[in-house]
Amino acid sequence: MSLPVAYLLIAQPLNARIKIDIERKSGDIDSLLYGNFTEHLGRCIYGGIYDPASPQADAFGFRKDVMEAATQLNTSILRWPGGNFVSGYNWMDGIGPITQRPKKKELAWNTVEPNLVGTDEFLQYAERLHTRPYIPVNLGTGSLDDARNWVEYCNSDTGTYYANLRAKNGRITPYKVKYWGLGNEMDGWWQMGAKNAEDYGKYALQAAKLMKWVDPEIKLTVCGLSFWSSGTAEWNRTVLSHLKEYADYISLHYYFGDRTNNYLEYMASMKEPENEIKQTEAVINEVRFKYKIEKPIYIAFDEYNVWYRTGVEEKLEEKYNLQDALAIAVFLNSLIRNAHIVKMANIAQLVNVIAPMMITNGQLWKQSIYYPLQLFASHCYGSSINAFVVSDTFNTDKYKGVPYLDVSSSYNALAQTLVINVVNRHPVKSIQTVIENQYGTLDKKGVAYEIYSTGLKDENSVSEQKVKINEKQFTVNSKNIDYTFPPHSFTQLVIKIK
Ligand code: AHR
Repeated sequence: MSLPVAYLLIAQPLNARIKIDIERKSGDIDSLLYGNFTEHLGRCIYGGIYDPASPQADAFGFRKDVMEAATQLNTSILRWPGGNFVSGYNWMDGIGPITQRPKKKELAWNTVEPNLVGTDEFLQYAERLHTRPYIPVNLGTGSLDDARNWVEYCNSDTGTYYANLRAKNGRITPYKVKYWGLGNEMDGWWQMGAKNAEDYGKYALQAAKLMKWVDPEIKLTVCGLSFWSSGTAEWNRTVLSHLKEYADYISLHYYFGDRTNNYLEYMASMKEPENEIKQTEAVINEVRFKYKIEKPIYIAFDEYNVWYRTGVEEKLEEKYNLQDALAIAVFLNSLIRNAHIVKMANIAQLVNVIAPMMITNGQLWKQSIYYPLQLFASHCYGSSINAFVVSDTFNTDKYKGVPYLDVSSSYNALAQTLVINVVNRHPVKSIQTVIENQYGTLDKKGVAYEIYSTGLKDENSVSEQKVKINEKQFTVNSKNIDYTFPPHSFTQLVIKIK
């Protein structure tokens, strides 16, 4: 029987080349790239990380299974309490005896906030999770006093009013929260107390000044323009011009997805968040040169994820499939490629709400997007390596000349480990790739972690893990690695190099 020509064409793999040289370092990878975010929204805090009625609850009411899964993600920094929520949040409502805390109307997500989890609960949770807390203050409805007093409550030695209040609430030693944000998405109409760039810049400058006067050790993130608005460069230029002396980071938010139900268009559109990084880096440089600012200003990509299917009615409980996992892998590749300027990133969010893990009928399970996050956070440390890639390309209506292979690489000198992250975006073809190593000697064998499933729309559930990590060994041919990347897959190659 002879096979139809169309079948033979599909079955024929493509070829590609990747050149790796560990001397071609492009930046240091900050472990804060592997951060997460928990907002008072839907089932993220209540019924997610915190659920005292669950058999999974620890002595403090926090779910042990969520902590375990977050630990496996090496969650390096945890943003809290919002998001949009923070722009109406009075942190004083969330401290002191639980029974005396007010239940308040919550306007960001149109709910009632019970204030059972507040500053002390969250910061002690972060300590038990061995992660760094990252708190954006309320620059929407909040005052300058609210902002500086929150820093005092968390970070000052006792002897002053708010530090003494913390001690009275059971915590004498300051938490020393290092990372703080100057509001959340302050440009957007949906934000309580939204402002234009001038007004935000001026107000955030005063908040920044007072917060750093309370604790000069803190690091501050300025709100960059949010994903939902347009004109990133203008907003960012204006706010950085005001805040250049105080900004340690400027934030980016990006939510991507298969909005046109077109897989290749979706994959190609993943260059957009990287374009945002490049554009923001250009503005940072412009402002630093103009005002002769010596200290660095980095990017904190403090909200990103796939989000396009669900709204508030569905409590943002997005279900992810294989192509979403590939999108996340491409996004993480772009963070590694830009590790010189992006020094923090927080996937939104940790559990249930646009999240890598879900709780269904009391049981935790992992979504497809959990696995690329876990692989990057397990292995990609040290230096980002500039990989040279030759790959066939594809065109979509909007994007031209997009390479099928999306690649990043890292080299950890301490662990003498080379990591090569490859997303093969081709929907049906494998890509036979020669990876040429330019410097040092590779071990004879390495480990390949593959995320692949037959259907692009395959997803996981409480009862089945269709999309997960498959681990195998690969061997080295003199100084090259010959590896065939399956269609629509993410592969991470990890190998020792001396
Ligand atoms: O992560 C969900 C929401 O998305 C956040 O509250 C907000 O900052 C963003 O628009």
